[in-house]
Amino acid sequence: MNRLTEYMLPPARSVTAENTDALFHFINVTSIILLLGITVAILLFSWKYRRRSEDDVTPVISHNNKLEITWSVIPLILVMIVFGWGFSGYMDLRTAPSDAYEIKVIGKSWLWEFHYETGNVSVNELHVPVDRPVKLVMRSDDVLHSFYVPDYRVKMDVLPNRYTSLWFQATETGESIVFCTEYCGTAHSNMLATVFVHSQEDFETWLETAGSADDDMDPVERGEQLVTQYACATCHSSDGRSLSGPTFQGLWMSERTMVDGEVVIADENYIRESILEPNVRITEGYDPVMPSFAGSLNDRQIDAIIEYIKTLQ
Ligand code: CUA
Repeated sequence: MNRLTEYMLPPARSVTAENTDALFHFINVTSIILLLGITVAILLFSWKYRRRSEDDVTPVISHNNKLEITWSVIPLILVMIVFGWGFSGYMDLRTAPSDAYEIKVIGKSWLWEFHYETGNVSVNELHVPVDRPVKLVMRSDDVLHSFYVPDYRVKMDVLPNRYTSLWFQATETGESIVFCTEYCGTAHSNMLATVFVHSQEDFETWLETAGSADDDMDPVERGEQLVTQYACATCHSSDGRSLSGPTFQGLWMSERTMVDGEVVIADENYIRESILEPNVRITEGYDPVMPSFAGSLNDRQIDAIIEYIKTLQ
């Protein structure tokens, strides 16, 4: 079984993955056996009962009880096994243990934001403890997204105006990739995140230290770091390339023409407004697709990003 998994699937790193894989292999192997059996029978019979002469006539057979019961009962048993196994597995996947550690997830075009009980926020990086059930309570800020961790065999749609959830328990420390599996626009394929599985001790250390790094850092450096951390770089380049959004290069104090013809100077207030209420003013040639970072970035962080943009002339 583990051999099959190694050969066909990504590594199984959650407590529920093994059962999911076992059912997958059962369906797969049964289907292959049936396919081979039927194919061999078709070839064999078409040879054995081929027409041998002009007056060869097929005898009329109205029914055969034994045969009909056999081909009904065997598939019924197989289908009931798959149903029972699948249903109990589904219930396990849908029912988070009551002691699960809860993390809020917000999907935005095109990034994943994670909010922890301690108030920490991380973007495109999900930090969790090993050997402990983790429940994700998820919603979207804009369109449909879907949260998928192949290594854990868990996937759930993330919707606006409604919470969905999923849970998993990582069985080993390390990193696993998160995909968005609902087509959500231009940068859908870049809507990736990484799960970092820590020991309980390291996880607590991470909770204590994460987010406090900005205090004594150089604002320009901190700004550059935030642009990566908060996935601004998915849509805004720093080297002049035009992605889904305008480049940061040469942005500072430039004259910007908006879709409604208004001309704005890209000063502190313009950049701040663009981060907090991105759809108030839309630059000509671009679509109103940026999510708001209100509640995600604080004033100090916005200052740092502005300082960084200033250096990109
Ligand atoms: Cu979000 Cu695709």
